Amino acid sequence: MINFPIIPLCFLVLVQCTSSTAGLFLEEKISRLEKNYMKIKEDLESKIVTLETKVIRLEEKVEQQQVLISDLIRSVKDQQHPSTKSLSVKVYVNQEWKANAILRSCREIHESDSLLDSGNYWIDPDGQGIGDDAINVYCNMTIGSTSLPHDSETKMDVGQCSEPGCYSRKINYYASDRQISALMELSHECSQSIRYDCQNAPLTLDGVAIAWWNDVNGHKRNFSTWLTHCDSDLHTHTHGIIHTKSELPVKRLNFGGTSNGSGQHTLGRLECTGKAKLKQMPGSCEDLFRLGHNLDGLYSVMGNTTVESVYCDFSKLPNEQGFQKWIGFNDIKSSPVYFYVQRNSVFTRLSTPIPFSRALVNIGNAMNLTSGRFTAPRSGIYYFSFTGLADFPSSSSIGVYLKVDLYLNGRPIGSGRVEEANTVSQQWSPLIVQSTLNMKMGDRVWLQIVDKSSEEVTLFDNAERYTHFTGWMLQEDIGSL
Ligand SMILES: *[C@@H]1O[C@H](CO)[C@@H](O)[C@H](O)[C@H]1NC(C)=O
Ligand SMILES: *[C@@H]1O[C@H](CO)[C@@H](O)[C@H](O)[C@H]1NC(C)=O
Ligand SMILES: *[C@@H]1O[C@H](CO)[C@@H](O)[C@H](O)[C@H]1NC(C)=O
Ligand SMILES: *[C@@H]1O[C@H](CO)[C@@H](O)[C@H](O)[C@H]1NC(C)=O
Repeated sequence: MINFPIIPLCFLVLVQCTSSTAGLFLEEKISRLEKNYMKIKEDLESKIVTLETKVIRLEEKVEQQQVLISDLIRSVKDQQHPSTKSLSVKVYVNQEWKANAILRSCREIHESDSLLDSGNYWIDPDGQGIGDDAINVYCNMTIGSTSLPHDSETKMDVGQCSEPGCYSRKINYYASDRQISALMELSHECSQSIRYDCQNAPLTLDGVAIAWWNDVNGHKRNFSTWLTHCDSDLHTHTHGIIHTKSELPVKRLNFGGTSNGSGQHTLGRLECTGKAKLKQMPGSCEDLFRLGHNLDGLYSVMGNTTVESVYCDFSKLPNEQGFQKWIGFNDIKSSPVYFYVQRNSVFTRLSTPIPFSRALVNIGNAMNLTSGRFTAPRSGIYYFSFTGLADFPSSSSIGVYLKVDLYLNGRPIGSGRVEEANTVSQQWSPLIVQSTLNMKMGDRVWLQIVDKSSEEVTLFDNAERYTHFTGWMLQEDIGSL
């Protein structure tokens, strides 16, 4: 009896014992399963993130491919039905459409016929028949702009790399450097746009540029001034336009810093509009080239202060050796200026401009006889020469003298002085002043007796005419016209 209840008790205990061990076992299992589940969940989630990123990339790639395919289809169609236009009659030579008159830019084509449609045209910026062969460009005939294609126009993926400039792409234009440079010379404005679609791809890190572009001379130019905002986790894009002609076209694009994100660049065509304007008269063969000259020969151009002769060899480009050869100055004056005047009587007054009585020549009317003043009608270099006779009374060893100064705008420029001793009465001695002066328009020149030994000393003259004042314009400052 005593044992009886023990068995079920023990059984109960056993049951209790086993059930408690089983419970523990299950709990452990569940927690292990839970842990496993969490791990799998985390793995899956991170896989999903990776896959999503991949999908985005792939979508972008597909988009790119589609653009490429449609470009290809278009170019195949173009080849089957050439839509390339040129201004005048086209001739089919050597399996190529060639035009017999090719203008230098879309603007010139547009100017020659404003009714022409936008499309692909042949142009020859460096001049037809000289330099490089014509190039094919897109002309927007609404505004007469020239658009120069290249091999990197579609959106292009930078891929993943972290180092500065680890991605680098050379841009190839469908035109020679010579033609591109000639087109830019002829145009008033040229520009090129860069767009960067980015996410988590900084363009600078700790103040160091990770991305940059190379200009026409290969110099590094960074984006930091206008391409920002790429550091963000969000997909975004940023873009800028380069207007500086001396930097265009973009020769290479360099990116990096995409290891935690992505980046795609889109480089626009080189767009040139307008006609290069000359601020002043042509001063070089380069200016003449911009104006449309392309026949080799001798030309007159405006120098700093004079007109100059240059030889232009338009088979070369402005930056090439031998494009311009300087020949010399052209002796061009807007109007001639020269005079020769005389006196016929004695003059004695001090500090008064010496007047004259007769002009043998006074071309340009710059010399005023009665006031004795010459007024420069134009800026330039002038030459003056004065000769007179001093009349001295008798003198001892102390001597006598006469001093005449040449004045420019009231300021003495130089003196002519004659001095004698032991003179006899009415002794004559010559006195000379000569000068070459750089004068501005309106500057005045005259002569004055500034000093003499006594009242009896005079600047002598009579009907024989001993006083001569002559002058002329040596070289006119044409630049100040
Ligand atoms: C021509 O350029 C203007 C101004 O940039 C633009 O609005 C227009 O769409 C362009 N037309 C063609 C046919 O390319
Ligand atoms: C960008 O270029 C300028 C001038 O070339 C330079 O001074 C500057 O440090 C550059 N910026 C970066 C982030 O390298
Ligand atoms: C990518 O992320 C890592 C870790 O956050 C960081 O150390 C590294 O600088 C980042 N790289 C770039 C290019 O941002
Ligand atoms: C014209 O002026 C420029 C700058 O003032 C100078 O460098 C050049 O030598 C001058 N040319 C001539 C022909 O005097």
